[in-house]
Amino acid sequence: MTQPPKSDPSIRSVTQQNLRAWNEAAPIHARHNLADLIEACRNPGFSCLDRTATEMLHRLEVASKDVAQICCNNGIELVSIKNMGAARGVGFDGAQGFLDQAAQLAQAADQDIEFVCSDIYDIARHYNRAFDLLVITIGVLGWMPDIAGFFDRIAKLLRPGSAIFIYEHHPVLMMLKPDRAGAPVEWELSYFRTAPYVDDSGLDYYGGELYEATPNQSFSHKMSDIIMAGIAAGTEVEHFEELPQHISNAWWNVESADIGLPMSYTLILRKRG
Ligand SMILES: C[S@@+](CC[C@H](N)C(=O)[O-])C[C@H]1O[C@@H](n2cnc3c(N)ncnc32)[C@H](O)[C@@H]1O
Repeated sequence: MTQPPKSDPSIRSVTQQNLRAWNEAAPIHARHNLADLIEACRNPGFSCLDRTATEMLHRLEVASKDVAQICCNNGIELVSIKNMGAARGVGFDGAQGFLDQAAQLAQAADQDIEFVCSDIYDIARHYNRAFDLLVITIGVLGWMPDIAGFFDRIAKLLRPGSAIFIYEHHPVLMMLKPDRAGAPVEWELSYFRTAPYVDDSGLDYYGGELYEATPNQSFSHKMSDIIMAGIAAGTEVEHFEELPQHISNAWWNVESADIGLPMSYTLILRKRG
């Protein structure tokens, strides 16, 4: 299968099918982690964020900001961000099953957070210019069939002079077959691949449970496409750092092989004006 052209209306059919696949995974993830997460959220000041994310959010002065998380999943990171003192927290995600869990976590943390079920490409216009900071963490950009359209939509959510913070796995990893720690690192695919990855083995990256899953399609966007899409959407690069730390639920083989590849990156894009 080839990647749909950027203006193709079939982009929506890809995202809608992916969101069905995510909704199917929601109760399975909940079986693995929801009770523990609710318990953890009851601790005042709880945070699931690692040192890199925490330092970057302090640098962006999160404490006084109206923050939205793009593709917030079960909201655990947004609860942590709200616990850092964010003025407003809004989580956007297209899978209602995960947002129902997010509402339970916010309640356990006694935090007032709004969760909005929407395909990111279709976020309602009344959220335009509503935020000082957008947060995007591991496992989001690869779900976007049209990376330019994605940045174009989310940049409109920002007030002038405000920022997008991205902390993602490095796209170079998409070239390598993910495996358990100690397994060999096998070079699989081109960094310049544009065709989607189609997978029907499900999205239980916590327990590896196999179930009858709607096939999902994900995409590899090279680093230059991500940065240039941000610039085309009216932002400037304020910070970009490639990092050795492994932040995903895959590629344990690459981490353990310690071959010096970038495993993740942080990027801050600042809206012009
Ligand atoms: C791997 S999770 C990452 C979220 C977060 N970083 C985390 O670790 O919990 C990806 C999320 O993106 C959401 N998603 C994927 N495509 C989307 C789209 N087109 N619109 C809205 N949400 C989407 C899924 O529902 C899922 O919750």
